[in-house]
Amino acid sequence: MREEADETTREGERLTFRIRDEIDAADARREARRLAERHGFGAVRAYCLATVVSELAHNLVFHASDGGLIRIRARTEESAPAIEVEATDDGPGIRDLALAMQDGWSTAGSLGCGLPGTRRLTDEFEITSALGVGTRVTCAVRKQ
Ligand SMILES: Nc1ncnc2c1ncn2[C@@H]1O[C@H](COP(=O)(O)OP(=O)(O)O)[C@@H](O)[C@H]1O
Ligand SMILES: [Mg+2]
Repeated sequence: MREEADETTREGERLTFRIRDEIDAADARREARRLAERHGFGAVRAYCLATVVSELAHNLVFHASDGGLIRIRARTEESAPAIEVEATDDGPGIRDLALAMQDGWSTAGSLGCGLPGTRRLTDEFEITSALGVGTRVTCAVRKQ
């Protein structure tokens, strides 16, 4: 499910981060927040975006076998400005998506709030996963 990209790249208002560890996750979080601020997002919306990126990146670190990619893109259409986030990996996949989307459900003994929290913080949310193939989460936070 993951396109090949060996390095973190920045092309205009599209950022791509290869996430392998918590330092990568922190970088992605910080840059997401900066992108939101550059695009005139208020502090609360920028914080939502940063939190979403952090949760999805941590899932790549802790649940995908070899990390994954986070792509962040500013949608500049005047009518509906938003920032899109896509997290992809070719890790083990999720057996039961309905369970994974429940608060407090974790196979890692952690809080189990990352995915349901991400759904609540975003205006668009989609998750697909296939066992042995990988997981893709796409979501978007609107400017207002
Ligand atoms: N990228 C992923 N690949 C495989 N499993 C995942 C991935 N993201 C989430 N999961 C599964 O969904 C569960 C819930 O995720 P989440 O809500 O973020 O809670 P937590 O990370 O605290 O376990 C995880 O425990 C894990 O089993
Ligand atoms: Mg998590």
